[in-house]
Order: sequence, then structure tokens, then C-alpha cells
Amino acid sequence: MVEKLLPTVFIVYLSSCYVTATPREPGIPAIARYFNTKGRYEEVNPYLLDDILAINSSAVKPPAPTCTAVHFTAIIRHGTRFPTSGNIRKIGAFDNLVKTEANGDSSFLPELKAWKMWYKEDMDGRLVAKGRADHRHLARRLVKTFPSLLTKENLQGRRVKFITSSKHRCVNSTLAFQQGLKEEFGIEGEDLEFTVNDALMRFFDTCARLVETVEKNKKAVEEVTRFNSGPEMNRVQEKLADRLQIPYVNVTMDGVEAAFYLCAYEFTIRGVTSPWCQLFDESDAQVVEYSGDLKQYWKKGFGHDINSKASCILFHNLFNRLNAVASQIKAGQPVSEVVTVQIGHAETLLPLLTLLGLFKDNTILTSTNFASQLGRAFRCGQIMPYAANLLVALYECPDGVRLQVRVNEKPVTLPGLAGPSPLYEDVKKQYHQLLTGCDQDVVCQLNNSQGQN
Ligand SMILES: *[C@@H]1O[C@H](CO)[C@@H](O)[C@H](O)[C@H]1NC(C)=O
Ligand SMILES: *[C@@H]1O[C@H](CO)[C@@H](O)[C@H](O)[C@H]1NC(C)=O
Ligand SMILES: *[C@@H]1O[C@H](CO)[C@@H](O)[C@H](O)[C@H]1NC(C)=O
Repeated sequence: MVEKLLPTVFIVYLSSCYVTATPREPGIPAIARYFNTKGRYEEVNPYLLDDILAINSSAVKPPAPTCTAVHFTAIIRHGTRFPTSGNIRKIGAFDNLVKTEANGDSSFLPELKAWKMWYKEDMDGRLVAKGRADHRHLARRLVKTFPSLLTKENLQGRRVKFITSSKHRCVNSTLAFQQGLKEEFGIEGEDLEFTVNDALMRFFDTCARLVETVEKNKKAVEEVTRFNSGPEMNRVQEKLADRLQIPYVNVTMDGVEAAFYLCAYEFTIRGVTSPWCQLFDESDAQVVEYSGDLKQYWKKGFGHDINSKASCILFHNLFNRLNAVASQIKAGQPVSEVVTVQIGHAETLLPLLTLLGLFKDNTILTSTNFASQLGRAFRCGQIMPYAANLLVALYECPDGVRLQVRVNEKPVTLPGLAGPSPLYEDVKKQYHQLLTGCDQDVVCQLNNSQGQN
């Protein structure tokens, strides 16, 4: 098991003197908080480092002791994965550059030169062992969080539904999540069902307006392009070139990202602090992190209205289910779908969080406000690590049905609503416009005024 690997790694790491400048935890790169969407879930909830099955009991309280949980939906990103083939090529190219061109007497250079490129293009984004563990463990924590909902009886009575994107890393995350439940309940052999639904979990592929105006349109990410050729990023490139004694012209943005995320991949996949991590100090890492956040912001977040509107189908899917549960409760009927687990991508979850209005800063993220945005809410390392999740729970309370939302198992307050456990009726009022509009076919059409900025 991956978590058992860490102590061993720690010893290796100390004995070869790879202690980074400001280690937060033994064996964790000092820049691990800045890995953006390539970060570990444990960096978001560090208490998991002591006990991967721990839950924060003060964060999972019902609205009041007199309330009973009646339903939850979990929308979860797949677990830790290999780099995509495109990134594996870039990593290979930068590794080559270092092997052939780097010079100097820095302590890490021999280690860099000895590092063996082991990523192969056919690993292309596949789920790794740590990614399966991410989901197995999350499943077991959710059993502890909702002990009356995620039960063996509900699972075997098919009141727990699984829906996944067709991508192998998501299907395998789903299987790992189910495996975690089987372990928890002592079930053996039995295959649990799941449904593949790309219209719902990969809406970004089929939303024409998103594809044409954002995905295929370089201008949609011009703030990212500008930042990447701006003064902050130039400085990172120069420092990297200096550390390796490579001419400035040969250290490109692709090279910076290759080295930075190689540190991330080696850490999340293998649990090691590799020599690549030595090429960046914390201020460099903040710049590369901002570049990543900018990209997410303009491609999946608040940057363009269509980014979040593309998730209207998932928004309605969620609220239709919540409505059905609320009606069953009002009618005194048993709840038919007690738990729903949906597994997708950062491209699935981030637009939905954005549509709900979560993690919104007062000022937009641009190429020129890196310094003033250091305290931003839109920080993907915190919001969208591997196995990132949105949990929406309904409770039956004496005064009506109440709703709670958690992101990565931490309570969040929806914008415009007082407190973390509003009445479901108030939630519906708050989202009235989206609930009565936000029609997927309409917003995704090219050449219409809706969904435009
Ligand atoms: C547990 O949750 C509470 C309430 O959300 C929070 O204030 C606290 O910081 C959390 N504790 C840890 C260890 O994360
Ligand atoms: C998915 O899991 C199965 C069984 O563990 C494994 O054989 C397969 O290679 C995995 N696929 C990917 C793409 O990781
Ligand atoms: C470094 O950049 C120069 C100028 O663009 C180019 O001619 C040279 O081939 C590059 N060297 C390497 C090793 O990529």
C-alpha cells in the first residue's frame, strides 16, 4: 500500500541529502502545495497523513442533532494518474536537455543526470496504484461520514448508484471506490453495477459552444499566454537555466512545466522527493501555480460564462435527484436513491463548482495581478487535487429538509445563503434562475446570445 511506502522513502531521502529548503513534513517536497491539479489530496487535508481513514468529526455534523441524513450525492474526480502522452513527451525532451546540456557543481546535478526516464507514452493518463487507493480510502471515509446512508443493506438493495465517465481512469476509480466499500462491509466477489454516462460526466466534449469558443480558441486563454511570457515567469525560467547552467533560450515554458510537474508526478505516483524538485524554490512554485490556476480559470472556471454553463446538464441532474428525494420525504415515502456516486474529471467538477458560485474572487484573475491575487480563493491545489469531490447531502429536520455542501470533505457555504445548512427551499430560491433556465442544448448552441459573456 502506498501509505506504507512513505517511511521507507523518508530514509532514502535523508541518506541522500535531498532535504529541500523548507520541508513542511519529512518526505514531502516543500513545493507540494503548489502542484495545482497534479497535487495530492493529502495536501488539502493533512490530517490524512496520520490516518488515511480519519474523518474530521466537527466537519461532518448534521444541521442539528434532531436531523437525519436522507441522501447524499458525491461527484468525484478520478484518482492519481500518469501524465498524458503529450506531457510524457515534454518530460522526455526536458530530461534529454538536462542530460546533454546541464553543467556546474550543484549537488543535485549528478542525481538529475542519473535519473532514469521511466514514463512511457502508453501510460497516457492511466490511473496508478495510488489513484486506486485514493478512491478506496475516500469510499471508506464516506461510510464513516454517512453511516446511516452508505450501508451494506443500501448497497445490496441497489439504493446506491454509480455513474462514471467512460475514460479508463474514471472506470477504474469507480471500481476502486466500490472495492473500498466491499472491504468496509466485508463483501467478497460480488460485482457491483455502474453506468457509463459521458453526456453527463464529459459534457465538455459535446458542448459545441465550449469547444468552439474556448477549447479551440487561443484567444480564450490569452491571459495565460501573456502571463507565461511575462516578467514573473521569465524570472522562473532564468533561475532554472542558471541552476542548470543551460542557455536561457533553451529553457522554454514547456521545459519549466515539464520539470515542475515531473517533481509532482514522482511524488504523487512513487512517493519520492525527486531531484527535479530542487530546481524550484517556493517563490518559483507560486508563479508556476498561478499559471496553472489562470489556465483552469479561463478554460473551466469563471473566465468565460460558457465554461460553467456547459455543466447545466449535471446541475439539473443533481437538483432533479434532490427534488425527488425531498418529495419522497414530504410524502413520507422511503427514499429510493439514497446515495449517488458520480466519477469524472476536473473538467466535470470545476465547471459545476463555478456554476454554484463557489471559490469566486472579487477580481478576475489576469496576467498582471499575480501579486495581488496571492490570497485568492480560486486555488486549484486546494480545490481540485486528485480525487477532489463535491458532496451534497440532504437532511430531514423538524423544520423541513436541509442541505449541506462539502468540497473535499470540508463544509462550504453556498453564496447568498446564511450558514452551512440552509433549508432546501431557500437553496432552490437562490438558484431559481439556473433551475428555470440553464438548458444544456440552448447554452451549448453556437450563435445564440445565452452563455455569452
Ligand atoms: C475540522 O473541521 C472544522 C470545522 O469545519 C475546522 O474548523 C477544523 O480546522 C478542521 N480540523 C482539521 C484538522 O482539519
Ligand atoms: C484498470 O484496472 C484493471 C484491473 O485492476 C487493470 O487490469 C487495468 O489495467 C486498469 N486499467 C487502467 C487503464 O488503469
Ligand atoms: C538551444 O537553443 C538554440 C537557439 O534556439 C538552438 O539552436 C539549440 O539547438 C538549442 N539547444 C538544444 C540542446 O536544444
